[in-house]
Amino acid sequence: MVLKVGFIGAGGMARNHMKRISTMPNVKISAICDVAIEKAREASRIYHTNVYSDFHDMIDKEDLDAVWIAIPPFAHSDEVEYAAERGVHCFIEKPIALTLEKAREMERAADKYKIKTMVGYHWRQSHPIRRGKDLLDREAGPIGLVAGFWWGGIAGGPGHWWRRRELSGGQVLEQTTHIFDLCRFLAGEVKRVYAEFATILNADKPNFTIEDVSVVTLKFRNGAVGFVTGTSGAKPNGGFVGLRLFARNLQLNIDGADRVCVFKDKEKLEITSSADPVYNEDKKFLDAISMDLPTETPISEGTKSLEISIAAIKSAETGRTVELPLTAS
Ligand SMILES: NC(=O)c1ccc[n+]([C@@H]2O[C@H](COP(=O)([O-])OP(=O)(O)OC[C@H]3O[C@@H](n4cnc5c(N)ncnc54)[C@H](O)[C@@H]3O)[C@@H](O)[C@H]2O)c1
Repeated sequence: MVLKVGFIGAGGMARNHMKRISTMPNVKISAICDVAIEKAREASRIYHTNVYSDFHDMIDKEDLDAVWIAIPPFAHSDEVEYAAERGVHCFIEKPIALTLEKAREMERAADKYKIKTMVGYHWRQSHPIRRGKDLLDREAGPIGLVAGFWWGGIAGGPGHWWRRRELSGGQVLEQTTHIFDLCRFLAGEVKRVYAEFATILNADKPNFTIEDVSVVTLKFRNGAVGFVTGTSGAKPNGGFVGLRLFARNLQLNIDGADRVCVFKDKEKLEITSSADPVYNEDKKFLDAISMDLPTETPISEGTKSLEISIAAIKSAETGRTVELPLTAS
């Protein structure tokens, strides 16, 4: 059976998914929708698809099995709800929404109509990280400290949605969310958050209204403590994205999604892989649909990882610690 897939959004990340899905067997990209229809047309010239500027039309007119949703945080409306009601499975890029209310509406619709969902937290699909997690689960003993880092530059140019708080939600919500998700994947759920944000390093850039330095401290339910720091002020060759985890019997160093070192006593195990985590997540989602399997990162996981960012924002605004789970309002 050939699965028919549509795209909501035809920007940078959507094109990354299209490139990979187009190489897979038993799947056809049938339609592409973008509110900027020229972007949909441009992609359709490569993948020979129908084009739309309104996803409701696309879902009504095409007989789709699944949609890939890759639009900016501010742009989420009723795409999951509309697709779910029509039995169309949804892959959705992180962060799944700007607010917890919206995320929970999506989750309710997915549950009600029993569609499959998967959130694009692709670090969980990295082979080295999965092997590291395996060792952690089997041999690590209690986890004590988790330290996460997203030290990079500004995404996009002066007019880009990423640098506007009301459009992206800020770096902690839009980008550092990958590291919060990784913390949850490796060390379990978080029960308390305290955060400090500031805008200093890029305060001179036009239209820049989001935090550019952040420190978020985490208390995990299992007793471990952690912190995740973010900045968009790293110099071009000075960034670092990764994580360090200290457990009683081993230490895990994650240097990007393709390199993990596990330290045990005096032993050092280096795990690298050229396997592509975005390909892996796309393939797993398609397999879950065709084999009727559960997905590893359903939309409920997207809500939980979003909740940490929302709690951090709340803490940075109020100067107080914030306990999880949050109530929606
Ligand atoms: N997993 C990752 O590593 C990763 C990397 C980059 C981006 N992302 C995520 O992917 C999402 C998209 O980011 P991007 O970099 O592709 O952004 P982008 O700006 O390159 O593309 C977004 C596209 O969505 C379109 N759009 C907006 N509202 C729409 C709507 N209602 N219907 C149809 N199209 C609409 C825009 O016109 C634009 O073409 C974001 O949530 C981002 O966080 C994930």
